[in-house]
Amino acid sequence: MSEAGTRRAITLAITGASGAQYALRLLRALVAADCDIALLISRAARVVINTETELELAEDSALQETLLRNYAQANDGQLTLYDREDWFSPVASGSSAPRSMVICPASGGTLSAIACGASNNLIERAADVVLKERRQLIVVPREAPLSTVHLENMLKLSQMGAVVLPASPGFYQNPQSIDDLVDFVVARILDQLALPQDLLPRWGES
Ligand SMILES: Cc1cc2nc3c(=O)[nH]c(=O)nc-3n(C[C@H](O)[C@H](O)[C@H](O)COP(=O)(O)O)c2cc1C
Repeated sequence: MSEAGTRRAITLAITGASGAQYALRLLRALVAADCDIALLISRAARVVINTETELELAEDSALQETLLRNYAQANDGQLTLYDREDWFSPVASGSSAPRSMVICPASGGTLSAIACGASNNLIERAADVVLKERRQLIVVPREAPLSTVHLENMLKLSQMGAVVLPASPGFYQNPQSIDDLVDFVVARILDQLALPQDLLPRWGES
């Protein structure tokens, strides 16, 4: 394992769209890939995580951080959870923000706020920073059907350089379980981040 400071830094924001399992699987994969993770969790995401998974996140962010660090088996200093108004956190400034940020899953509300540059909470501000610095932003929306507003916001984000990677697993690998479907999407995210993954063979690989 690398020392803190030499690991690849990534911001992972979890918002209140359905699909908390994608976020938790991605979190574990980033820890396994020896990344240094700045974690941001919206209030709605906490509700969704508690509804959709076996985890029970407390309101207190220190307790959330401990639970998620244990869940993901992160080393000391590998995972830091920042509060929604921690404007002094590294992710809030272009001088210190990680080069890559993933919003998984991404709610329609957060996509809208980022598309118009609202920056009203740390997730929105961190995304704004990544876009203004021309760094890597990957958003993983989950909504169906999509309204014109959703589509317009995704188009705007794509035009600003973000990668729009819908939580939309393929079935050509013959998935046998929900885990396989979750891994499909997480593998696509890891590919975008250029992190090694063996969750899923690439097209053409056996
Ligand atoms: C169980 C649950 C599932 C939800 N699923 C979605 C969803 O799939 N997509 C979405 O855009 N919003 C969904 N929402 C609504 C968002 O959580 C809500 O719009 C919230 O304001 C988003 O806030 P955030 O972007 O700060 O996380 C869901 C809410 C709950 C409680």
